[in-house]
Amino acid sequence: APAGQEVRKGLAGVVVDTTAVSEVVPETNSLTYRGYPVQELATSCRTEEVAHLLWHGELPDAAALAALQEAERAQRALEPAVRAALEALPPSCHPMDVLRTAVSVLGARDPRAERHDPDAELAKALSLFARLPAVLAWDVRRRRGQDPVEPDPALGYAENLLHMCFGEVPDAGSVRAFETSLVLYAEHSFNASTFAARVVTSTLADLHSAVTAAVGALKGPLHGGANEAVMHAMLEIGEPERAGAWLRAELAAGRRVMGFGHRVYRNGDSRVPTMEAAFREVAAARGGQRWVGIYEELARVMLEEKGIHPNLDFPAGPTYHLLGFDTAAFTPLFALSRVAGWTAHVVEQRRSNALIRPLSSYVGPPQRSVPAR
Ligand code: SDX
Repeated sequence: APAGQEVRKGLAGVVVDTTAVSEVVPETNSLTYRGYPVQELATSCRTEEVAHLLWHGELPDAAALAALQEAERAQRALEPAVRAALEALPPSCHPMDVLRTAVSVLGARDPRAERHDPDAELAKALSLFARLPAVLAWDVRRRRGQDPVEPDPALGYAENLLHMCFGEVPDAGSVRAFETSLVLYAEHSFNASTFAARVVTSTLADLHSAVTAAVGALKGPLHGGANEAVMHAMLEIGEPERAGAWLRAELAAGRRVMGFGHRVYRNGDSRVPTMEAAFREVAAARGGQRWVGIYEELARVMLEEKGIHPNLDFPAGPTYHLLGFDTAAFTPLFALSRVAGWTAHVVEQRRSNALIRPLSSYVGPPQRSVPAR
């Protein structure tokens, strides 16, 4: 690298571009999507409304919402050709691999795949947003040995997703808690998976290739995979009384405790209070006090020992568990929601593109010649 330039590993603290999609303000612990505080969106908006806001920059009026819902509901079915491709994957494969494969197959089959105009991009974004819930539900039920449930065009996005996974729509409180998680997971500026999507878009590759890369990035436990790890830990801990000892042992072994810490938020993740409130409501309604006890004890000890706060994955994990999801579905649920954010960034990157290609500082062997043969 040019002399004197310091290496910023992990691009920590480096501003690489502007964005109008969302703003994360660590100082005030706030997150806004197109200017709206996420706490307000999460408790009063539908998933479809927030998707529209991310894609188009405005909350939809009644007509725009109706048009989006009509187009989304018309594309929910899992096409036989896509299902056939997924059937080829062993049931033991990672659920994020199912999602990643589905995005690739949907891209390969989409006649608009290589069209990069905003209308085509937004139509493809909506198509992925509409089609991936049936993929997740198909995988969730296959792992349980259950037949798929057909999508129901009479149901909203969140209710339909729950109905396809469980064969029924739960009570309104459970639906609201689930919808809160989907809104909170939808977007978060230049997180690793979104940045992966922007890197792929910056080469002028297509939207589906960008989302495939994003799914790959989100799978990792330092990112989206953390919500699954949170639940594995809670199940291992079992009782609130054992949480402190478990945590101290993890820290003593130098292991990271998933669900805690964040690259940008240094005094707590702005989304946690809203997700935690939803978690507590679901726990109260479904007899999940044990998980609340473990949650509170882990948060208390982590703050005491490391001064580190929970991130969104921490309350989201046990909420999904109490709603009846298998742990394997947790990160795919995060991905389904984040499709709206990823694709909003793909459109933005393409609008004012510059190839993303950083520098590196060479530390390998000095120049040398191949020995004479
Ligand atoms: C998401 O970026 C986003 O916006 C992501 C996300 C989104 O919406 O897209 O918010 C979603 O990915 C949330 C984060 C989910 N990941 C986890 O829960 C995994 C556990 N978290 C950590 O690994 C960590 O907090 C990161 C990776 C998220 C961020 O870490 P940084 O900023 O790279 O900081 P670091 O790894 O250098 O840690 C600083 C110190 C270290 O101690 P030292 O080695 O300097 O002594 O804090 C420690 C770390 O060991 N630390 C932890 C810890 N997180 C940080 N120690 C134990 N457990 C943890 N969870």
